[in-house]
Amino acid sequence: MSEGHSTYTPKTGIERWFDARMPLPRMVYDSFIAYPVPRNLNYAWTFGGILAIMLVSQILTGIVLAMHYTADTTLAFDSVEKIMRDVNSGWLLRYLHSNGASFFFVAVYIHIFRGLYYGSYKAPRELLWILGCIIYLLMMATGFMGYVLPWGQMSFWGATVITGFFSAIPLVGNWIQELLLGGFAVDNPTLNRFFALHYLLPFMIAGVVVLHVWALHVVGQSNPTGIEVKSKTDTVAFTPYATIKDAFGMIVFLFVFAYFVFYLPNYLGHPDNYTIADPLKTPAHIVPEWYFLPFYAILRAITFNIGPINSKLGGVLCMFGAIVMLFLVPWLDTSKVRSAVYRPWYKLFFWLFVADAVLLGWLGSQPAEGSYVFMAQMATLFYFVFFLVALPVLGLIETPRRLPNSITEAVLEKNKGGGHHPAGATAAPETKG
Ligand code: HEM
Repeated sequence: MSEGHSTYTPKTGIERWFDARMPLPRMVYDSFIAYPVPRNLNYAWTFGGILAIMLVSQILTGIVLAMHYTADTTLAFDSVEKIMRDVNSGWLLRYLHSNGASFFFVAVYIHIFRGLYYGSYKAPRELLWILGCIIYLLMMATGFMGYVLPWGQMSFWGATVITGFFSAIPLVGNWIQELLLGGFAVDNPTLNRFFALHYLLPFMIAGVVVLHVWALHVVGQSNPTGIEVKSKTDTVAFTPYATIKDAFGMIVFLFVFAYFVFYLPNYLGHPDNYTIADPLKTPAHIVPEWYFLPFYAILRAITFNIGPINSKLGGVLCMFGAIVMLFLVPWLDTSKVRSAVYRPWYKLFFWLFVADAVLLGWLGSQPAEGSYVFMAQMATLFYFVFFLVALPVLGLIETPRRLPNSITEAVLEKNKGGGHHPAGATAAPETKG
């Protein structure tokens, strides 16, 4: 979709001057104005833009917070309280940043599940998907380290538990753990390096996002049918069609975000983090932030040794394995049809997988005892069955529904059923250029 000549014509003298030296306006025009996008994109496709906004918001609020925060174990907790009480609009900055992290993850989960449902990861978008997985990993590392900074009870004990799991890795485990901690326990060097990395990683995320969007512009966007663009009538110009839809999606999303920031600012947090870290007092239940809970449940589900692998290492391997599955998706899925819209069995398994992920999340918040452990083991099993069995096998045995010949045909068929469209309303507006 990116092939074809640029249709940009500089109009003013300054535009011509720039175009001859560094054609940035041409790039913006070709990528965000005339750029052709499939005419049938639904609201699930607005989450890429929403993620971009959230990343910018996190970086901006984070930079101002860093101006008032002190990365020292004796001062960190108080410096956060000072931000909340004394710094002008400090409470707002902090709530925007802490809830922003949660909403960033809400958006990324919707974005990932959209990809899984519509088979967006399939060729030629594998690299686009892999870059997304790298962003997701970086987001998790950033979120984990950020949570340690306020130096509350959950900060300290969460960091202790999670870094502790690295010691289960044979040969290099202890070395990795000491490297993460900057010592033998979570302490001042840990807080300092976490702060340094928490500041650095979002800029690395921004760098990978540039590659992600670059890869996207090379292969073009997929769409709910999963059928590639075949003719000009299959597309519309990015501006105004996608811009206005993205803007609407962003505004609705930001309203929900604002509701949490202003009315439920601590709903997604943990009350224990309003108590200063105490290495001598272990909280009754150590729970990570909600967006880690499914992986936490998988980690704790392995309560038995598997041959020479002890349960602790087994849990760590399963947790990392759960993330590795995402990287492998483009090659695990054998189906020739992309979109779940035309794959009845895959659609069923997809929704079971969503329910499984939610169940794992809930189990991650419960104590690892009694029937919770068994449920977590079953849910973990299904997690891997989805990737390692359902994805490869369904592609081979499933009979997909009849696919329309083109995006335009799919849109026209759908609108025929809808009824309320005035004559001519179904014709695709011309792509600019
Ligand atoms: C900071 C995080 C991210 C940003 C800012 C971002 C940005 C975007 C944007 C702007 C788009 C085009 C609009 C859209 O399709 O929604 C897109 C598409 C896509 N993203 Fe991301 N993304 C992020 C994370 C991820 C992650 C974690 C994954 C997967 C693991 C991913 C996979 C994809 C795929 C496969 C597409 C193409 C979808 C299609 O055309 O069908 N992205 N992304």
